[in-house]
Amino acid sequence: MGATETLMGDNITILGLESSCDDTAAAVVSGRRILSSVVADQTALHAAFGGVVPEIAARAHAEKLDLCVEAALSKAAVSLQDIDAIAVTAGPGLIGGVLSGVMMAKGLSASTGKPLIGVNHLAGHALTPRLTDGMDYPYLILLVSGGHCQFLRVDGPTSFARLGSTIDDAPGEAFDKTARLLGLSQPGGPSVEKSALSGDEKRFAFPRALLDRPGCDLSFSGLKTALLRQRDKLVSEQGGLHAQDVSDLCAGFQAAVRDVLVEKSRRALRACGGITGFAVAGGVAANTPLRAALETISAEFGVPFVAPPLSLCTDNAAMIAFAGAERFAAEGADDLSLSARPRWPLDKTAPAALGSGKKGAKA
Ligand code: KG4
Ligand code: ZN
Repeated sequence: MGATETLMGDNITILGLESSCDDTAAAVVSGRRILSSVVADQTALHAAFGGVVPEIAARAHAEKLDLCVEAALSKAAVSLQDIDAIAVTAGPGLIGGVLSGVMMAKGLSASTGKPLIGVNHLAGHALTPRLTDGMDYPYLILLVSGGHCQFLRVDGPTSFARLGSTIDDAPGEAFDKTARLLGLSQPGGPSVEKSALSGDEKRFAFPRALLDRPGCDLSFSGLKTALLRQRDKLVSEQGGLHAQDVSDLCAGFQAAVRDVLVEKSRRALRACGGITGFAVAGGVAANTPLRAALETISAEFGVPFVAPPLSLCTDNAAMIAFAGAERFAAEGADDLSLSARPRWPLDKTAPAALGSGKKGAKA
């Protein structure tokens, strides 16, 4: 990282861009103040396909990024000239989308002469408790989203120790798959949570994977398969699913995810001494019963619990702008050779989790 300017301090104003998955976002953040945060979601574009289509996502990001930037500047009542630096998600994520954001940020940086800061998307989520609650280092965070699930001890803006991670699917992916299997709308998390409200979590016995093994690694692929089997069994016995069956399946599934995350959080808290608190972030952290259960665990250990507001749990650019400011203060800016990275582990020393693919660790 070559520093391009000596701008430092808490109150620099940063324009952040996010386009690593299916939300195009731009935000202006000054210190811990969010002056604007604009998110254009692509749910409707992917609805017919039952999941995010990378090419459609990339095209939509390229079309929407400049509009989001304009909207973010206008809502914050600032001009590009008032911005001190431009932060952009440079990975990990769907490469077409990440590239769209990085190209846009480079264009803005080159034309204005403002410093460019590449931000790790996961660092954005992991540093959000500092933006929302001013949490001090070091703290423990459970990062739980559509593509990731890991426990991290956050020691500094670019210093993370991974205590455990999923060895296969992420919980958000499992929520989305569950919704698809049960004919509920995407994204699956909110629709499964809603249906589970009227369900009986005890009717079906779903597996709680890896609780018999020491450590904080997690696995969710068996749960998905168990849900599929249970659904097929009901369909073959009854000729279809009643609304109550769907609710009971959702409740049982959600309870299994909650129980696993709760027990592994307990282990992670036990393994982490001297932390200032326990936080949760990422899209799945929007799940109300999960937040409540994690808050209880935190209280058991006597550490403060932080769950950012829902709009800052799911993908947004305010977290990228803030993480950009923290990285900038610690390491300075990038230059125009900044590249888009589909894979970018936060903890470079942790061994790649199983199932992370032949190309190496995703996160
Ligand atoms: O962090 P995020 O916005 O995107 C990334 O994966 O980076 O997370 C999206 C994921 C989706 O899988 C979505 O189904 C899940 O978060 N999600 C939820 C809830 N809201 C969103 N999962 C469970 N309960 C929710 N209320
Ligand atoms: Zn995310």
